[in-house]
Amino acid sequence: MKKTSIIDLNKDYLNYDKKQVKVCGWARTIRDSKNIAFLELNDGSFKGCQIVLEKDKLQNYDEIVKQLTGSSFEIEGTVVLTPNAKQPYEINAENVIICGNCQQDYPMQKKEHSLEFLRENCALRPRTNTFNAVFRIRSKSAFAIHKFFNEKNFIYVNTPIITSSDCEGAGSMFQVTTLELEKLENKKLDYSKDFFGKKAYLTVSGQIDEEPITHAFCNTYTFGPTFRAEKSNTTRHAAEFWMMEPEMCFAELDDIIQNEEEMVKYVIKYLLENCKDELEFLNKFIDKNLLERLNFVIESEFVRLDYTEAIKILEKEKDRFEFPVYWGVDLQSEHERFLTEQVFKKPVFLMNYPKDIKAFYMRQNDDGKTVAAVDLLLPGVGELIGGSQREERLDKLVSRMQELGLNLKDYSSYIDCRRYGTNKHGGYGLGFERLVMYVTGMSNIRDVCFYPRTVGNLY
Ligand code: 4AD
Repeated sequence: MKKTSIIDLNKDYLNYDKKQVKVCGWARTIRDSKNIAFLELNDGSFKGCQIVLEKDKLQNYDEIVKQLTGSSFEIEGTVVLTPNAKQPYEINAENVIICGNCQQDYPMQKKEHSLEFLRENCALRPRTNTFNAVFRIRSKSAFAIHKFFNEKNFIYVNTPIITSSDCEGAGSMFQVTTLELEKLENKKLDYSKDFFGKKAYLTVSGQIDEEPITHAFCNTYTFGPTFRAEKSNTTRHAAEFWMMEPEMCFAELDDIIQNEEEMVKYVIKYLLENCKDELEFLNKFIDKNLLERLNFVIESEFVRLDYTEAIKILEKEKDRFEFPVYWGVDLQSEHERFLTEQVFKKPVFLMNYPKDIKAFYMRQNDDGKTVAAVDLLLPGVGELIGGSQREERLDKLVSRMQELGLNLKDYSSYIDCRRYGTNKHGGYGLGFERLVMYVTGMSNIRDVCFYPRTVGNLY
């Protein structure tokens, strides 16, 4: 008999009434009351299904009920609707194969575990309800992003993971080498003997390689892993995280902001429609305001605020902050949180930052002091998106790069875009894990990555 997935059964159980099915999965619980037992089977779907086992129908009944949580089964049986019970249907088992027993030391035998304990068991935690919900929502969020950009005819571009340039100029990159470091006799490394014949790194952003491709397709996005060797041991920073980076030609700052707002709302709407059970579960057990917050966000208009205005607001409250506030300062998370959580109580686009705290490629504003940058700040999560209109004027770009001491040769194809049909353009980078935190209510980035990588921790 062909296997039926429990997701399909849950969706369409009325059509399976009295039909024979085969389901496969792992036991969440087995309750034995002598001649009848109930097995909750889960095959990765958010909700499992109840299997009824009757002693006189199953030769191996005694063996089955001895199995522990986590054991795997192949079960054939008949679907019976149970409109008066907690679950809308159950399966009366006729044939049960025990595929693999689960040993006593299975760490998930207990029903409730702390998030810290589960973090130590990354490979097993997706088997819990909480992480099943979180990772399902992670998957659906990625799908919604692809759907959004596909509907807008953006081309999905895969930029290299190994690179020679530091896009953000932040200098916190992981180096990639095949040189055998232990065998080096003197401390001087000869990179001409390295794999690529020069120094190589893991990318911090796909943007620099993407922009030239955008100049062929007009609208593109990347979505892939990025790496930062920052030693920020916070709940919002990971050393390996996924970034989604759209780029748009013939677009100004306002077009970029509009695209961001539309995209975030689209993804949230998609999740509210397609992950109801998961979101309700997380709303009950993880973040009691989750559903209210998500519904509020899709209805509200995000705030647009100039950096200079934000500083004026923050200066009035400077005594409440640990870090100083003045024009020119890079805002700390306490400042961002104050704006989103206390002042506006909704997402805020912060625009037109001082040029000295932003990357070289951002378009210089006419005031000579600021650039057309925009960060999207969210209550609870802080910065979700960093973006800007790009500097499309060759002379301005080159002189800014020279001012900052960048090696122009490393960026030749990037600069060439300004020589071969330049135009106003821009884009942004969305920290995918931060989005998943926001839409699941999880407050630690380590709990939205399958295998989190943070400073000092390679689980
Ligand atoms: O603001 P960032 O540094 O922007 C860029 O890298 C641009 N090149 C993107 C672009 O315009 N194409 O990073 C973008 C986003 C941040 O807003 C944040 O959400 C996330 O990436 N991010 C991190 N997420 C998790 N851990 C970290 N260490 C992160 N650093 C940045």
